[in-house]
Amino acid sequence: MKNHPIGIFDSGLGGLTTVREIQRIMPGEDIIYFGDTGRVPYGTRSRETIIRYTKDDIDFLLRHDIKFIIAACGTASSVALPILRDKYDIKIMGVLESACKKAVEVTKTGRIGVIGTSGTVKSGKYEELIKELNPKMEVFSNACPMFVPLVENGYAESEAAMIIAKDYLKPLKEANVDTLILGCTHYPLLTKVISAIMGEGVTLLSPGALAAEEAKSYLEKEGLLSDKDHGNSEFYVSDSVENFTQLGSTFLGKPIDGKVHLEVFD
Ligand code: DGL
Repeated sequence: MKNHPIGIFDSGLGGLTTVREIQRIMPGEDIIYFGDTGRVPYGTRSRETIIRYTKDDIDFLLRHDIKFIIAACGTASSVALPILRDKYDIKIMGVLESACKKAVEVTKTGRIGVIGTSGTVKSGKYEELIKELNPKMEVFSNACPMFVPLVENGYAESEAAMIIAKDYLKPLKEANVDTLILGCTHYPLLTKVISAIMGEGVTLLSPGALAAEEAKSYLEKEGLLSDKDHGNSEFYVSDSVENFTQLGSTFLGKPIDGKVHLEVFD
């Protein structure tokens, strides 16, 4: 079982920020990645649709003999996992828990900001988890619906991104947060812009990368870490293989290093 692949999914490319970190800290792991690029974005859709899409993603990964699943999508993790997780025998890890734990650990003022898609912010899940960990924390959230299209279209470091980000981040700056959770796995690509606006004193947390660390601890604890030196990654997308391959390299920080297949749901 330990040399079976880890299954990872996202609505599109954002989950590659988790793949990148897994390849760095667990180079022996095989990975099956599914990016639902034909149906992205999830974050602006209804709760019912997000749950249905997430179920399709999980069911698809289960056809690949995987040992464990990471929902590398803030929206799927906050809206769908609380409903779906218990319906499966396999362990499914979301990206919220590790980010909330880290935020509570690193904040000095107890003022934590959360940005994410509309679906994520509406779910209130980040806030709920942070308060469960420490009820004294104050949480300030704002949805940033334009961030995903900016990133997916290659505008992450543009003048346009700066103007839009200034507007979205204004309430969090005014709230004087000292820690900001980038609650959508696409947002680390906007780190330059976000940190220029928030300033050096604010710690930015990337849930996708933190989930990779949590996954490593889990696999170690369960005796499920691969014993190979080098793992292989395979990628499945529900829309253009070419677009994914091109833009995916900016998320991975290197060319996509595995086969990319097209998977269209009936
Ligand atoms: N990567 C997804 C997330 O982390 C956001 C993209 C979307 O809206 O589908 O929430």
